[in-house]
Amino acid sequence: MQRLRHFISVVLLPIAALSLDFNQFSGGPSRNARSLYEKTPLSERSRIIKQAEHSIHKRSADSGGDTCNSLQRYDTKLTSNTHSHSFDDLSGSVSLAWIGDGTGVLLALTTFQVPLFMLRFGQSRLYRSEDYGKTFQDVTELISNTFISTDFGIAIGPESSGKVILTGDLSGSGSARIFLSSDFGNSFTRSDLPFNPKMQIVYNPQNPNVLVAISTKSDLWISENFGEKWRIISETVCAVKWGADNTLFFSTNLNGSCSDRGMLTLKKTIDNGQTINTIAEKIYSFGIGGRFLFASVMTGTGTLRMIHVSVDQGKEWNMAQLPPVGHEQFYSILAANNEMVFMHVDEPGDTGFGTIYVSDDRGMVYSKSLEHHLYTATGGDNDFTNVTSLRGVFMTSVLAEDGSVQTVVSFDQGGEWVPLRKPENSECDSTAKDKDKCSLHIHASYSISMKLNVPMLPLSEPNAVGLIIAHGSVGDAISVLTPDVYVSDDGGYSWLRALEGPHHYAILDSGGLLVAVEHNPTVPISQIKFSTDEGQCWHVYNFTKEPLFFTGLASEPGARSMNVSIWGYRETLITQYWVSVTIDFRELLTRDCVENDYVPWLAHSDDISDPKDGCMLGYKEKFLRLKKDSVCWNGRDYNVNKQPTPCACTLDDFLCDFGYYRNENSSDCLEQPELKGHDLELCIHGKKEHLQTNGYRKIPGDKCEGGNQPERKEVDIRKKCISNLLDPQMQTQNNGKPSHSAPIIVTVIAIVLVSCIAGALFVKKYVCGGRFLVHRYSVLQHNAEANGIEGMDETLDTNVAGHAKIGFHDDSDEDLLE
Ligand SMILES: *[C@@H]1O[C@H](CO)[C@@H](O)[C@H](O)[C@H]1NC(C)=O
Ligand SMILES: *[C@@H]1O[C@H](CO)[C@@H](O)[C@H](O)[C@H]1NC(C)=O
Ligand SMILES: *[C@@H]1O[C@H](CO)[C@@H](O)[C@H](O)[C@H]1NC(C)=O
Ligand SMILES: *[C@@H]1O[C@H](CO)[C@@H](O)[C@H](O)[C@H]1NC(C)=O
Ligand SMILES: *[C@@H]1O[C@H](CO)[C@@H](O)[C@H](O)[C@H]1NC(C)=O
Repeated sequence: MQRLRHFISVVLLPIAALSLDFNQFSGGPSRNARSLYEKTPLSERSRIIKQAEHSIHKRSADSGGDTCNSLQRYDTKLTSNTHSHSFDDLSGSVSLAWIGDGTGVLLALTTFQVPLFMLRFGQSRLYRSEDYGKTFQDVTELISNTFISTDFGIAIGPESSGKVILTGDLSGSGSARIFLSSDFGNSFTRSDLPFNPKMQIVYNPQNPNVLVAISTKSDLWISENFGEKWRIISETVCAVKWGADNTLFFSTNLNGSCSDRGMLTLKKTIDNGQTINTIAEKIYSFGIGGRFLFASVMTGTGTLRMIHVSVDQGKEWNMAQLPPVGHEQFYSILAANNEMVFMHVDEPGDTGFGTIYVSDDRGMVYSKSLEHHLYTATGGDNDFTNVTSLRGVFMTSVLAEDGSVQTVVSFDQGGEWVPLRKPENSECDSTAKDKDKCSLHIHASYSISMKLNVPMLPLSEPNAVGLIIAHGSVGDAISVLTPDVYVSDDGGYSWLRALEGPHHYAILDSGGLLVAVEHNPTVPISQIKFSTDEGQCWHVYNFTKEPLFFTGLASEPGARSMNVSIWGYRETLITQYWVSVTIDFRELLTRDCVENDYVPWLAHSDDISDPKDGCMLGYKEKFLRLKKDSVCWNGRDYNVNKQPTPCACTLDDFLCDFGYYRNENSSDCLEQPELKGHDLELCIHGKKEHLQTNGYRKIPGDKCEGGNQPERKEVDIRKKCISNLLDPQMQTQNNGKPSHSAPIIVTVIAIVLVSCIAGALFVKKYVCGGRFLVHRYSVLQHNAEANGIEGMDETLDTNVAGHAKIGFHDDSDEDLLE
């Protein structure tokens, strides 16, 4: 059998890759978006796979009873809790935004837009729900019937600020109109901007009254009173990002061209632009991940650049121990928190892959984690996924030598990567050489970008411990055949085929309830599937008598809700109109969970009785998890019950410090030969203590105690260094000439679609090509750290259903668009 393979196709100019440094790619709905509107052949009717085997269901009662029968006569309960809302609205797209946590407030912005060459006209309507989407009020008059373009979407303020900004369409006039709300979208005030923004307005995550935006003339504007007054703090600004402690970072170019990469100046201000300091020069790009500030800086000679890192907001920089890259290569922060960063370094040439490095706690010393890591240079697609439901677990794809794409998983924060175990209830497909030996491969961003029939990214939630839902195939590599849905309940160690064919899915009630809707854009649907036992048994509920064309699921981000909305549209002979059907599952789970609905579960372990089992990064965690056969409600206030205990240290809890290395098969860190009697090319230009080392350093986040600790004397390696680092003169300045390229931080529109619909029938017919209408549907993020400013944890948090994360459309994306 011919093996099915994916090939990387490089279609864009090399310049695209140039600008990818620090692009923080959202694992969020933007990816998802691309897949939703593919025209796919009619897939076979999905069948519910009832799981009879209970062998791997560790947490179900061992009575042997068929848990699939534990739920009965749910239909009437659900019917009386199903709320349908039809919108008298012909618009082609819907954007949804949740405001606040647990408020139930949902804004739906519909836009109807017709692009006619240079002109663009359109119309928006705004709807607001206060009951998790069960009913909506048309509040279009609050925005005076202004056309809100979907480009900059709805900007939601951080946390529970209740702030919302809608940006009016910009085409035509020289300035833009925005609408601001501080009361969860209940009322809006209108404000005319003194400039035309070329990015979504960004909140200071620490103070949502402070807003910044770059104008189309590349001026950086700030408002300190939630949009009342604006002033310019710098000209010729290329990119802007908020850091910690109200620090604003931005890059500028004195010569006025942001495309003059490698000649940018990095500046910061901690007082909203009163004083501006230059913190680095000759930078190519900069990025923020966790507490780390990164800049790629041109080396003295040639076209190579290197990463410099600062943990004190740019006061002091260190050179990162990563390979330098040339013009055609890029760096990318895959994930970062305050402890460490995963950094991808592109391989020279158009290979489509690179190497993942993991950092130490200073962001300076890096260990090679994974080679052949798939990362297309062109659009920046990679499959890196932080499995947020279990500490230390990450998944991604490698590009094998034969050109196939294969999924690997790490259970120890990048220490070791292994293939995923084959699900017990599935067979190897035709990509497998050996029918009995193969592994599970997960579809993520790359498959979506390749237009495979994958409607959603893998989904995990921190409060749904151990749970992962994802599309995949079982074989030697990712297959291009229609994928199925797989579920893991132990953080990716074991998997189960849960649903046949592609689905949209969402996690509700902290994992106590899963819902799924078959993905089939060509046929109207009327069924939702749900599972109360983490995906083993699925029940079907017919939520409507009038099937609708399904576009996406929306549930409140955070996976605590019991309400889920099915968004779609119905078609009549002459029009199509939006419909949302919201199902409240609260009554289905008739009782609240009590103590004996939970059982202890040790993460990263097969055997809870083995005292050595389950150690991960120096400690193990015992959780109380819902029994699979408990049909009860965790509740909105459910807290993950986590009991950590430290493990004894081994040398494997340490990485080798700067100037040291490990031999294969050995845990000892040896001094690098170059260090013996030679100067180092790379060196740490930091404080004294950075240069005192015994060769070992605790792995970031490792909490081991006692045991086998390295006992070597510290040596001072400073004198061996040649330092050629940037040492920027601190200066206050605020000047420059205009430039024409700048970053856009765009709120990702989850499930976006291209369409034009009705309004004017001739438009429909001639512009849109008659019947080939695709509806737009999107979910915006509800909270704004999401504004991507620094939300690195956003980056790979791949929760998709109704979760709108932020896409970080950096300079690069703009380059790509031009
Ligand atoms: C500005 O451009 C000139 C000539 O193109 C170049 O020599 C100079 O280094 C540039 N300066 C900056 C700050 O980009
Ligand atoms: C991965 O996600 C978890 C849960 O959201 C978060 O605590 C952790 O910091 C993330 N790890 C990285 C490296 O981003
Ligand atoms: C649900 O709908 C399907 C067809 O869409 C039908 O075959 C089935 O009988 C319905 N179930 C109920 C309980 O109405
Ligand atoms: C579901 O929606 C209702 C409002 O219609 C709300 O009162 C309830 O709290 C929501 N349930 C959850 C678990 O969020
Ligand atoms: C490491 O161990 C593996 C298997 O135990 C062996 O095949 C390999 O040769 C060893 N490598 C070195 C450098 O000793």
